[in-house]
Formats: sequence, structure tokens, C-alpha cells
Amino acid sequence: MDKILIEGQKKLSGSIEISGAKNAVLPIMTATLMANGISKISRVPNLRDTRTMIKLMEIVGAKCQFKNGSLEIDGSSVNNPEAPYELVKTMRASFYVLGPLLARFGYVKVSLPGGCAWGPRPVDFHLKGLEKLGAKITLESGYILAEAKKLKGAVINFEFPSVGATGNIVMAASLADGQTIIENAAREPEIVQLCQYLNMMGANISGIGTSHLIIEGVRNLKPANIDVIPDRIEAGTFLVAGALLGEITLKKVIPSHLDSLLLKLKESGCNISLGEDSITISPPETIKAVDMKTSVYPGFATDLQAQWVALMSLAKGSSIITDTVYHDRFSHVPELNRFGANIKIDKNTAFVRGVKELVGAPVMSTDIRASASLIVAGLAAKGETSVSRIYHIDRGYELIEEKFRSLGANIVRKNTNI
Ligand code: EPZ
Repeated sequence: MDKILIEGQKKLSGSIEISGAKNAVLPIMTATLMANGISKISRVPNLRDTRTMIKLMEIVGAKCQFKNGSLEIDGSSVNNPEAPYELVKTMRASFYVLGPLLARFGYVKVSLPGGCAWGPRPVDFHLKGLEKLGAKITLESGYILAEAKKLKGAVINFEFPSVGATGNIVMAASLADGQTIIENAAREPEIVQLCQYLNMMGANISGIGTSHLIIEGVRNLKPANIDVIPDRIEAGTFLVAGALLGEITLKKVIPSHLDSLLLKLKESGCNISLGEDSITISPPETIKAVDMKTSVYPGFATDLQAQWVALMSLAKGSSIITDTVYHDRFSHVPELNRFGANIKIDKNTAFVRGVKELVGAPVMSTDIRASASLIVAGLAAKGETSVSRIYHIDRGYELIEEKFRSLGANIVRKNTNI
């Protein structure tokens, strides 16, 4: 099992380029299953999750070619609307094939998803939405079976603006008969780009970027090419590292996607300067403790909550951090306390008392963003840190140790046989 080894407290400086957004490219890949012909997606990050999604594309019959960040998917040969348990259990986003395959074939069989370890992650909003569009949904030994001769437009009202459910329903509704309205739709930049991509394929979606989406069904969709937006969560992770360890510049980002984080970083005393597609952060002498509550976009992203907790563990003063999206996404806290952080959890809130120094320790990753917070903490801690189970980090970060090394960090990946 690989480990990441870090010699902490090295100053960071310089600049890096941010990769394409994992959570944008995954649904865009499944959208290509609805078109005959070759779609070209560029700026695709080379991650465990994108490689897993390519495997799933090939299992359903699509042909894929992935080289130097550009991915070609030929949807013409898609002929097997089934997503197997072995694969779906490793990546929840596999569930995104449900809408496209049902819309194209009138039938789809997808295993219930697994995904990150924390808490149950239901898919009831996805299924209720598809039933509203006329699908018959049954559950058979851990698989969802959905059938519909022809999906019919409907008004769908999400009780929570679910990113995945919005993606699945928008894709299914694009090929339904008539008009679909989604109330309380997700507005994340990744869903905005998915809707833009579907329109490039010939769909007819309006209200993009708002919580009120109107989809006029069309008869078919054609292949389209797109350049994936930058990964705002990767960018936010590096900004938190800069707040702790030195002035760095992120290139090829969309600053407006990070407004809520940038606001909090300024409140904590950081200096931020923005270019058209760049962000430069310079850290203060001491980080001020700042309370934070996650919420759906454009609020503070739950995917940056663990990184914020790591930052606040070295702030001057105490802070209260609440996750309103996932109520049990704190598996990073016991590991951060191993560095000497002083964090207590009560329900979906972390109470952080800033400490003067963290001391390096052996720690264990538990999910993509928790592992990112452990790496950031290790870079700031005194002495050596080893991070195990780093397959979690490899799901969502491309060349993370190379990028940090290019900024001056002492960080290597070690292949250990234990
Ligand atoms: C997406 O997951 C992201 N994954 C997650 O990022 C991210 O944390 C999440 O959105 C929230 O922003 C991808 O885009 C691949 P949701 P998703 O449906 O779509 C509940 C990462 O680190 N819910 O918006 O699964 C759910 O339990 C990953 O890159 C239902 O109750 O998130 C959660 O509490 C981790 N029923 C809340 O809604 C449903 O049918 C938000 O979930 C669906 C969701």
C-alpha cells in the first residue's frame, strides 16, 4: 500500500496549474452515452475516479481513448445498459449513468452506489425524480431497475438541491417528451457546465445557473466537444495550504467559483489578489479563528470543510465549524487530533481550539477530502508525517505530491508492502 511521507514546515512559494474538475467531467462523460458518435472532452484529470468512469463507459459498450488529458468517447456502440456492483460500489458517481441509459434504452440496471465511507448516502431524490418522468423503478438484490418506454416531461421539486439528482434528472429529461421543470435544482458550477454541455449536444435547457431549470425534451442528442472547468475544490485545498505556509499563485482557475472560501480566508487575515484566471494568496503572521457553516453553492463547499478544520486547528482562538450538507463528515477530526489539534465534535459541528503547533504523526485517510486535510496538516506540522490509504486522495487529486513539491514542500510517495 502506498503512503505519502512529509517533512513538515517547509515554506511554500511559486505557482501551479489547477486540473480540470472531477465533479464536472464525471457527469459530462455519462452524457456522451446519449449520442451516437465521438465526443471530445479536454482537460480531463487523470484520477482513479475518471479511470473508473472510463471502465464503466467501456462496460456499457462505449469506446474510450484517454491521452494527455483529452478523452474521446464514442457512444455509437453503447449496447449494455447495466452498471455492475463491483464498479459502482467504488464510486458513487457511477450512478450518473442511470438517467442517460434510461433515456436512450428505456431500460437500465444500476447497482445502488457506495462512494465515500461517511454516513448513508441515499439516492431517493434521483429515483423519485425518474418516477415523476414516468419510469417504473424496482429494487432487485441491490440493483435499481428502471424502465420507461418513453419518459414524459414533469414538474419535479427537490426537497434538497442535490447535485447528483439534478444531474441525473436533467440528462433524462433532455430526451423526454415535453417540458420538465426542476424546482430547487443544484446550482454548482459543475452542474452548470453539464447543462451547457447538454445544450451543445442539442438539448434545450434554460434557467442554467439558477435553481429553476426548464428542459424542453428533444428527439436526439449529438456528440459535442468541451473543455472541462477548473477544479474549485483542488484550488481551495491549495489555497488553505498557502494560508498556512507561504505565498502561492494558482493558475487556470475561475476565481468567482471560490467566492465563499476567499471571503473566509480574508476574514482569517490572508491577503488575496485575483487575476482573470489566477488567484494569489499570501498568509498573515497569525491566522485568525473564523467560524464557518457549509451550504450548497454559492455557499462554503462541504468538500472544503475538512481543509478548513485543518486551517482553524492552527488559528489564534476558537472556531465553530458546522456541515449542513453532510451531518457526519468529520472522519478527519480524530486523525487531525493525532497531530495535536484540539477539536471536539458534537453532532454536525466541530469545535476547534487553535493550537500553536502541530507535530507530525502517522495518520490514515478515510475519504478524498479528509485525506487532503491530513496532507495540508502534515505540511504545516513539525517533523515527519506519514499518510496511509492514499488511494482515497488519488480518487480526486491529480499529481498532488508533485504539485506540492514544485511549491517547495518536502513530500514523497512511498511504496510500502504493508
Ligand atoms: C456531489 O455528491 C459531489 N460528488 C460530492 O463531492 C459533494 O460533496 C456533494 O455533491 C455535495 O456538494 C460528485 O459530484 C461526483 P448530493 P452527490 O446529492 O451528488 C443527500 C468529492 O469529494 N441526498 O448533493 O452525491 C445526501 O445524503 C465528493 O468530490 C439525499 O438525501 O451529493 C447529502 O446529505 C464527495 N437523497 C446531500 O443530499 C438523494 O437522492 C447532498 O448530496 C441524494 C442526496
